[in-house]
Amino acid sequence: MKPNYTILGIESSCDDTSAAIVQGCVGDARVLSNCVVGQNDLHKAFGGVVPEIAARAHVEKLDVCVESALHEANVHFDNVDAIAVTSGPGLIGGVLSGVMFAKGLASALNKPFVGVNHLAGHALTPRLTHGVEFPYLMLLISGGHCQFLIVKSHDTFVRIGGTIDDAPGEAFDKTARLLGLPQPGGPSIEKAALNGNKDQFSLPRPLLDRKGCDMSFSGLKTAVLRTRDACVDQHGGLTISDQNDLAASFQTAISDVLVEKSKRAMKTYLELSPKEPVLAVAGGVAANSFIRENLISLCDHLGVDFLAPPLSLCTDNGAMIAYAGLELFAAGHMHDMSLAARPRWPLDTTSPSLIGHGKKGAKA
Ligand code: KG4
Ligand code: ZN
Repeated sequence: MKPNYTILGIESSCDDTSAAIVQGCVGDARVLSNCVVGQNDLHKAFGGVVPEIAARAHVEKLDVCVESALHEANVHFDNVDAIAVTSGPGLIGGVLSGVMFAKGLASALNKPFVGVNHLAGHALTPRLTHGVEFPYLMLLISGGHCQFLIVKSHDTFVRIGGTIDDAPGEAFDKTARLLGLPQPGGPSIEKAALNGNKDQFSLPRPLLDRKGCDMSFSGLKTAVLRTRDACVDQHGGLTISDQNDLAASFQTAISDVLVEKSKRAMKTYLELSPKEPVLAVAGGVAANSFIRENLISLCDHLGVDFLAPPLSLCTDNGAMIAYAGLELFAAGHMHDMSLAARPRWPLDTTSPSLIGHGKKGAKA
């Protein structure tokens, strides 16, 4: 029988402070609590995440989050087997806040702790939510990252493609700003698109003419800017219907690119002959229902399973860090006080690195 663990997970790599308790064994664990404190209100006036403000807010909220995660899970510190903390990649001030907090806690309580790669947290989420077996194909789409990974084990990730510039979440956020919609851009574009005509504006599908699974989203955002300016010239301002139509056209363009590239990534992954092929999605953009529906249709068509976490486990959360920490801890990993906070930390260090920087640093 696999050993059971109770893990406290801590996440603070961008603009969500989170702590969670996950309990169980490798491939079969439950989320007992997942407390997330967002920072949207703090950054609203600046049109994007301000790293210094984010780091200070994490310091203020980490202890509150941990207390409520323990309380909600009805778990006492004595029963926690290990503390897992995001130690990169991300905004360095935020990552440092979490790592220092976890070190302090581990030292005061005399508990083991383990540093977790934030991207591994997202990529291992289907193991937490659905107990999926290795290998599986992961499309990780968030505000700072975009990559196709073949997940072979808790620490073996083969990247077979990714963005060469912006991440899709970043494109959603920037496009929302261009259209005068609130941040974070993903949910507000999704909402506006519900009332829009996706065929009203013709936007590019970047890199579809290039072989492979690499993607590019920065040109799309520039095309939105030009189309918006043309609308403003024509109507003397951006009408609500222009706003909705542009949101729908933009979302469809992103979805078309993700679907076509997923089809190609699936072809590469199927060469491994997995017994039960799976495409899993994770990251904030995986919360988008339109994109999910189109990926479901693709998987139906290809005859492969599609897995998506509940919305609360798509965006940044402590539960995914606790679960990835559980896998690491079960495999014998532990860190000491020399654990460093890393702004960059690619999951796959063997594949050639991708070009470009996102809002949270270089694409990993
Ligand atoms: O995974 P996440 O919480 O943080 C990162 O690791 O980046 O993702 C945040 C990103 C933001 O860019 C946000 O606009 C996007 O996820 N997002 C969405 C949706 N909800 C969040 N994008 C599209 N549709 C959504 N419903
Ligand atoms: Zn994330």
